Amino acid sequence: MTTRVGILLSRVRVEEKLLIQELEKRGVSFDTIDDRDVIFDIQHNGWQQYNVILERCINHSRAHFALLLYRDWGIPTVNTYEVANTCGNKLLTTSALVRAGVPTPNTKVAFTPESALAAIESMGYPVVLKPGVGSWGRLLSKINDREAAETVLEHKQVLGSYHHSIYYIQEYIEKPGRDIRAFVVDDETICAIYRNSPHWITNTARGGAASNCPVTAELNELCLSAARAVGGGVVALDLFEDPHRGLLVNEINYTMEFRNSIDTTGVNIPARVIDYTLKVAENGV
Ligand SMILES: Nc1ncnc2c1ncn2[C@@H]1O[C@H](COP(=O)(O)OP(=O)(O)O)[C@@H](O)[C@H]1O
Ligand SMILES: [Mg+2]
Repeated sequence: MTTRVGILLSRVRVEEKLLIQELEKRGVSFDTIDDRDVIFDIQHNGWQQYNVILERCINHSRAHFALLLYRDWGIPTVNTYEVANTCGNKLLTTSALVRAGVPTPNTKVAFTPESALAAIESMGYPVVLKPGVGSWGRLLSKINDREAAETVLEHKQVLGSYHHSIYYIQEYIEKPGRDIRAFVVDDETICAIYRNSPHWITNTARGGAASNCPVTAELNELCLSAARAVGGGVVALDLFEDPHRGLLVNEINYTMEFRNSIDTTGVNIPARVIDYTLKVAENGV
């Protein structure tokens, strides 16, 4: 049987273009499926022509539910539903990391503004309050004192949606003006970058500057343990260099952007993603 790849996507960004080019280079047949048009008929699996679905949605809820349906239909996906479910939610990710013994910033969860304020006061300032589901550094709050805590918690209560009713509170890590973004494919940390920024939020989408970060044995081991803790596959990890505790894994992303990391690291990330996708097509997961 010849392999056919389905790419479920929202928009053809730079990343999707590069992934498509890799498939074309190898002569692999594929279709792109726009998640804005897609209709899933739950009783009738209309996707049997695909040996694997490569999920590249921008929106977590679309990815999450699409991957669940593919799983239930028995269609292999990159990543799996389980990985998307865990990585798409910072609370689930932190819990999986802690369960696996992977060092991560101290985190508390509370369900009301009152208990959240008590949790913040017990941790000491500053703290970082994050929506459980989110990316690109959006709606992250660094809270430096009690007045700021009260203000942000009130805003969340009055203006926030469902995701803002779960308070995910993290100790603030004094990073050395940068954090680390590491890429794991299958069972290897293929490359990593530093994201340098004068701002405490270092995402490249927010202006952080990328430079190569050597993958040491320590970094590789830690990243592999963290990736395994959430189910493996193709993931991108955020790590902090804590001045006292060393490397901490902050979060794990499951539909990663990588455009700023190819030239910076010299690693052909889309080629590695496609290698893995074709391996899943052949062997299942
Ligand atoms: N606890 C923290 N201490 C210090 N910096 C943080 C902390 N949490 C987040 N940051 C900064 O904010 C960035 C975005 O946070 P992150 O948890 O990765 O959310 P997102 O999913 O939006 O990328 C991190 O890369 C880091 O630069
Ligand atoms: Mg991040």
